[in-house]
Amino acid sequence: MDEDAKTSLLRAIPYGLFAACTNSPEGDDHVFLLSWVTQASFDPPLLACGVHEESTAHDHLAEEGREIAINLLADDQEELARTLLEGPEFGEDEVAGTPYKEGANGCGLLPETLGAIEARVVSVTEGGDHDVLLVEIEDVHRFREGEVLTHESSGMTYAG
Ligand SMILES: Cc1cc2nc3c(=O)[nH]c(=O)nc-3n(C[C@H](O)[C@H](O)[C@H](O)COP(=O)(O)O)c2cc1C
Repeated sequence: MDEDAKTSLLRAIPYGLFAACTNSPEGDDHVFLLSWVTQASFDPPLLACGVHEESTAHDHLAEEGREIAINLLADDQEELARTLLEGPEFGEDEVAGTPYKEGANGCGLLPETLGAIEARVVSVTEGGDHDVLLVEIEDVHRFREGEVLTHESSGMTYAG
């Protein structure tokens, strides 16, 4: 295989950037930068997410019934996206300098993002270095209008 062509083609696939919030089974809050998300069904409404097998997020999510909140970062939130990579601590009602509140499914909602999708893991398929999680949407929250932050608009990448 032509490795350069593989990298350039895989990086040509558009991805958004999301602040994904999870909880440990003990209830500890966690947030990580997620981009491998795509709709996978209309009815029921499903998303497929690629999650690194050695991440804290994977520890929290790789079991049916676990919960996630996927907050859609706006194109003016690149700094927040980069801060999420540093594993920020949660304050009482903020994380990484942005307001935070708990959603109905127990995961974090970030009201300064474009909106949030609360979802439950319905299946986990072992892949390679990432597993594929199917999550079913339970509720959505639209916080404001705007364009989503993407690999292309931020210059950040996670593909190839
Ligand atoms: C631009 C970008 C996009 C990313 N997208 C994903 C992703 O889709 N899935 C994933 O598991 N990790 C992704 N990561 C890595 C995570 O943000 C994180 O650093 C790593 O998985 C460790 O997560 P943890 O804090 O849960 O241990 C991405 C990193 C960058 C820089």
